[in-house]
Amino acid sequence: MFDVEAVRRDFPILEKSVVYLDNAASSLTPEQVVLKEMEFYREYRANVERGVHRFSQRATEEYEWAHEIVADFIGAPSAENVAMLRNTTEGLNLVANSLSFEGGSKIVTTVIEHHSNFVTWLRAAKKHGCALEVVKPDREGRFDMADFEKAIDDSTRLVAVTKISNVLGCIVPVKEVASIAHEHGALIVEDGAQEVPHMPTDVLDSGVDFMAFSGHKMLGPTGVGGLYITEEELYRTEPLSIGGGTISDVSIDGYELAVAPLRYEAGTPAIAQVLGLGEACKYLERVGMETVKAWDVKLAKRILEGLQEIEGVEVHGPSEPKNRVGIVSFNVGDVNPHDVALTLDAEYDIAVRSGHHCALPMMKELFGLPEGTVRASTYIYNTLDEVERLLGAVEDIARG
Ligand SMILES: Cc1ncc(COP(=O)(O)O)c(C=O)c1O
Repeated sequence: MFDVEAVRRDFPILEKSVVYLDNAASSLTPEQVVLKEMEFYREYRANVERGVHRFSQRATEEYEWAHEIVADFIGAPSAENVAMLRNTTEGLNLVANSLSFEGGSKIVTTVIEHHSNFVTWLRAAKKHGCALEVVKPDREGRFDMADFEKAIDDSTRLVAVTKISNVLGCIVPVKEVASIAHEHGALIVEDGAQEVPHMPTDVLDSGVDFMAFSGHKMLGPTGVGGLYITEEELYRTEPLSIGGGTISDVSIDGYELAVAPLRYEAGTPAIAQVLGLGEACKYLERVGMETVKAWDVKLAKRILEGLQEIEGVEVHGPSEPKNRVGIVSFNVGDVNPHDVALTLDAEYDIAVRSGHHCALPMMKELFGLPEGTVRASTYIYNTLDEVERLLGAVEDIARG
């Protein structure tokens, strides 16, 4: 039986009496993660993979151990397959930067992508003179496999999709998409920014070649994220930056890159944050990702039902709660979404996100809503009482 009150006790920030429903932007951090970062600063603060002294040895052990925990958390075969970078955006840019277009001349993506998984491909397409095909799911976010099969062909080099839309909360059938991409000889990169925090992740099962994710959306610190790279691409993929830490040998006329994942982690990494992310994965493991997902669906179901009953409120995304995670976007009549969010904060102590959520192509093409939406997004420490507070507040705002 999931004990939300026990979870809440691990998040002292919740004592500030704010109903925090902006988790898709960034989650809160439990005490265990904060303490892990402090342990590094207080007990063995030193650089990693360099020194022979005891602090450096301990920091290196902890750093490598954190890689193993994170790799295990996403179902990667080993710590080698997960490079610790800054965030999802950096992971996607690494893939874009490394990609050669000798084997293809087309990129396929979707209109529901976050800018990080869209602008990146607009730039790559322009740089390499290749086509960018944009598949359009329907307004509920339902992925149109027939449309995708029309867009992809043997000239496709890469497919770039999110598993979960950060606006609609809908779930994209990435495994099927990966299988079709591979039939055409294309690579697939998944934006896992919302999947990894909200549901069990198994990169081997989904069959993607790359998956990028962010620590700060999954109880971890800011400034750290990961990029999973499949075995086949591990030594074909180019690091985004090179220099200290990425090299096994250098002479005046050449260099040899280190083994993975070090070859991708240039310069002194975000050591405390990597340790914190390992601790966040341990925390989520203890709760159980099936439980995390089930709690999300329970809260999303009530938000959906409640919002749909309020006159003048339009809810976006899947109408069936089981087809989404705890991310619900809505509009309140013609009220500007920022005004709704400001009122929720100032008068009701409720934090939500408002605006285009870094998904302007979707806002324009699917909804004709350049001002965007209001978005309430839940996580394991949110309660049904908090959801009722949100619903009551939105009802007040809708009544004017
Ligand atoms: C689906 C999705 N992709 C990418 C990102 C970018 O994440 P980051 O800012 O951590 O790089 C986000 C953040 O909101 C997101 O929700």
